[in-house]
Amino acid sequence: MRIDIITVSPELIKSPFEYSILKRARDKGKAEIHFHDLRKYAINKYGKIDDYQFGGGAGMVLMMEPIDKCISQLLQERKYDEVIYMTPDAQTLNQQTANSLSAKKNLIILTGHYKGVDQRVRDKFVTKEISIGDYVLSGGELAAAVLCDAVIRLIPGVLGDETSALTDSFQDNLLAPPVFTRPADYKGMKVPEILLSGNFPKIDEWRHEQALNRTRRIRPDLLDEESSDD
Ligand code: ADE
Repeated sequence: MRIDIITVSPELIKSPFEYSILKRARDKGKAEIHFHDLRKYAINKYGKIDDYQFGGGAGMVLMMEPIDKCISQLLQERKYDEVIYMTPDAQTLNQQTANSLSAKKNLIILTGHYKGVDQRVRDKFVTKEISIGDYVLSGGELAAAVLCDAVIRLIPGVLGDETSALTDSFQDNLLAPPVFTRPADYKGMKVPEILLSGNFPKIDEWRHEQALNRTRRIRPDLLDEESSDD
């Protein structure tokens, strides 16, 4: 997969791609990430990329022209499956969206800043808008990093069996069950007997039950979603 990230702060977004699973994915050739500094497409030699909003109001808006130049150049070079805009005024990222994006070949991710981008950018280029939650970040860079992490780890061959994505929380609309490691008894705090029993069908059953209980308690809305999807 190739991802082109358009940003006004390339340095802010680069480091998550230099560690752990994302680095491994890049080293294995599973994910190729390109960062594009929007200022290189500025409308004048002073690096202008934003302006006041028509109609008045606080906050600067990223202008159409620099983004048009950057995206149009990329679109000339190859075909993209999606042009994604990171913004709080969009549907919230979930595991289903991450799953479906992980099967794509080429993605553009546009990150906003200040008051966001001129609406005409969204109308002309953007095919998908994604929020990472109901709160406002200073820019879309951290949100883009979150999206890329959620997507890239699902690309086949990125995770080893030991970290299989299939058992993650949300893959089946359930939160993950509790997990334990050695020692079996820590200062009197004991690991549930069933996990030490070696009876794997029973262990699976126990885990499913725990996942259900945890979901009912903390995120009952996920169970509603499951039944409304049917
Ligand atoms: N940009 C600012 N806040 C954001 C959010 N919550 N999700 C995605 N992009 C954003």
